[in-house]
Amino acid sequence: MKITIAGLLISLVQLGSIYAQDRKMDHFITNLMGKMTVEEKIGQLNLVTGGEAVTGSAVSTGVESKIKEGNIGGIFSMSSPAKIRQAQELAVKHSRLGIPIIFGMDVIHGYKTMFPIPLGLAATWDMELIRESARIAAVEATADGLNWTFSPMVDISRDPRWGRISEGSGEDTYLSSRIATEMVKGYQGANLDAHNTLMACVKHFALYGAAEGGRDYHTTDMSLHRMYNEYLPPYKAAIDAGAGTVMTSFNDINGVPATANRWLMTDLLRKQWGFKGMVVTDYTAINELIDHGLGDLQTVSALSLKAGVHMDMVGEGFLSTLKKSLEEGKVTRAEIDEACRLILEAKYKLGLFDDPFRYCSDERAKNNILTKDHLAKAREAAAKSFVLLKNDNNLLPLKKQGTVAVIGPLANSGANMPGTWSVSADLANTQSLVDGMKDALGNKVKIMTHLGSNLVADAAYQERATMFGRTIPRDERPEQEIISEAIRVAEDADVIVAALGEGSEMSGESSSRTDLNIPATQRRLLEALLKTGKPVVLVLFTGRPLTLTWEDKHVPAILNVWFGGTETGKAVADVLFGDITPSGKLPATFPQNVGQIPLYYSAKNTGRPLAEGAWFQKFRSNYLDVTNEPLYPFGYGLSYTTFEYGDIKLDKKSIAAGQHIQADITVTNTGNYDGEEIVQLYIRDLVGSVTRPVKELKAFEKISLKKGESRTVSFTISEDDLKFYNQELKFTAEPGDFTLFIGPDSKNTKEIDFKLL
Ligand code: BGC
Repeated sequence: MKITIAGLLISLVQLGSIYAQDRKMDHFITNLMGKMTVEEKIGQLNLVTGGEAVTGSAVSTGVESKIKEGNIGGIFSMSSPAKIRQAQELAVKHSRLGIPIIFGMDVIHGYKTMFPIPLGLAATWDMELIRESARIAAVEATADGLNWTFSPMVDISRDPRWGRISEGSGEDTYLSSRIATEMVKGYQGANLDAHNTLMACVKHFALYGAAEGGRDYHTTDMSLHRMYNEYLPPYKAAIDAGAGTVMTSFNDINGVPATANRWLMTDLLRKQWGFKGMVVTDYTAINELIDHGLGDLQTVSALSLKAGVHMDMVGEGFLSTLKKSLEEGKVTRAEIDEACRLILEAKYKLGLFDDPFRYCSDERAKNNILTKDHLAKAREAAAKSFVLLKNDNNLLPLKKQGTVAVIGPLANSGANMPGTWSVSADLANTQSLVDGMKDALGNKVKIMTHLGSNLVADAAYQERATMFGRTIPRDERPEQEIISEAIRVAEDADVIVAALGEGSEMSGESSSRTDLNIPATQRRLLEALLKTGKPVVLVLFTGRPLTLTWEDKHVPAILNVWFGGTETGKAVADVLFGDITPSGKLPATFPQNVGQIPLYYSAKNTGRPLAEGAWFQKFRSNYLDVTNEPLYPFGYGLSYTTFEYGDIKLDKKSIAAGQHIQADITVTNTGNYDGEEIVQLYIRDLVGSVTRPVKELKAFEKISLKKGESRTVSFTISEDDLKFYNQELKFTAEPGDFTLFIGPDSKNTKEIDFKLL
């Protein structure tokens, strides 16, 4: 980087202004805290729920009187300018010091205009689009009175049994880190005190996605080496991007639950990473430390505060015990002051002390939500998130003519389209797949539809899988009767679209599964549909990688649409009928069966690796009954067109510390459609002081090529891209040999070697 005198002067002026602003804020808060009683300070640490979305057994009570008494610092899951104005008025006009409240919400993948679930958004690999989705979410949520979102969720997960894999960006460290950065920037914008930006909260700190057996809230036991190299970087990326707040995770980490883990919250987060913002617990996470076995409520509340946690979500452990702990010398006044200061700072940065009602505009609520532009972006994002898994004989795209039968339990449920964690979505007014398709296609295509089968055969399971209003109608007649009726509808069609998979609440929080097949009753429907001899396209709804071995073998075309948000139906029509060529690529490996889990591309080699392409070798690392290969690898996704990759060209064979190497590859659109391709670059460090993964994603570029067009994509790799945390947890690059791979997915790559001198 070249440093100019003018550049240096500008940086110094900027630094000076940040310093002046910080001093102003410090002065203001010191002054305010000087007037606060210890009770009022503890009151600021209390975050209660407004009751619109509840994820635990506890619900906040007596909110109004607590606000007046100064016993509430923040409220979440309450929205609309009217309600928020009312609560804010109680705080600023009726509490002794008039300290405004911060208003939070789980704005995870859109506010009212829902974008695809985060795993789907990750499949776009489109950083601009992802940032834009967060910006739109911020515009809408702030228009409805909110100023703080519990997002981004950046927990890496390599276990699709874990339902919350749907809420993150998948298995990869690099991709997740890039997305974390974009989400924070999209929410927070350039100016946190603008009336249309939200404060971000990176969660769940930390390692929540590595819960044992994919069971939610479960234990994580992990080496520091793996943490630093694979699981922690996305949190750090969000913090480096300026995330204002951090949320603790529910899980135990190497013997100390995150919410009481001083090493995590103080040594790592503050001392090593320099995080300066506020840490909030997850829902009743302090109280849950009792069940983790760390002591009674007073003990665990003190432990949590001392660990570096500042705000207590819903459980009121801080509110009910910290004063006593202070009197008994179990916590210090300085610890309470620090927590209170950081919460007040967050409010200050949001501009709430200047104008506590800055987010309460009826006009903005009326004009800035579900706008035409927002919906158009959501439709584009949905279409770009879809991953074409199979397309035999170019069955897709379909022609806009004739009759299409859309059959399956996901065909007619608008409430399931937004996907999990869409608490603010208007479920009743979300179009179903069929309605959206009809809307997009007009009268060019005749659409017929039928339920085809229940979501799952067992009524009690279906109830668990369709909670929070995500209903899918049930038909209690014998399965064969329902299927036969559906087949009669299908027989009148030219093409069958099978709308199958998971209901949206089959993934997400507390939705772990051990069987990742399409539910058996739906599989039987699919078999019957295939037997008609008509072309069948499987439009697959899912919040996680499923095991699709049977479907891959028998169904000619599979389009994985995750849960695409408000505009799902229209976007599915856009892609099925070729207005948009699919370009999504998997952000997580699809295994052949559950027994292979965890299965991820960036694994270690072992001392007995299976020979490339081999099925089984005795005394090698493999299974007797299934190959080591995934069904669909990380980064995989087809297009209607085809892309050919040339050979990789390097501008030099070796680089010294501080130098760059340039890798060029020419990609040609050799098919019959214009299309977008995500060109992926992986690196393997062949020899190290510690073992290194067989491949790691280090760069990618999404390009758009007209049919017949070629483009040379250039990547610049620097010494920094070769760094990793060594045994002493020093982030360093080691001289030696490397292989660089480029290709359309993690498996199918060209390669070339180079050296770091
Ligand atoms: C979830 C968090 C969420 C919180 C508040 C918890 O159950 O784990 O992700 O932000 O509830 O709704």
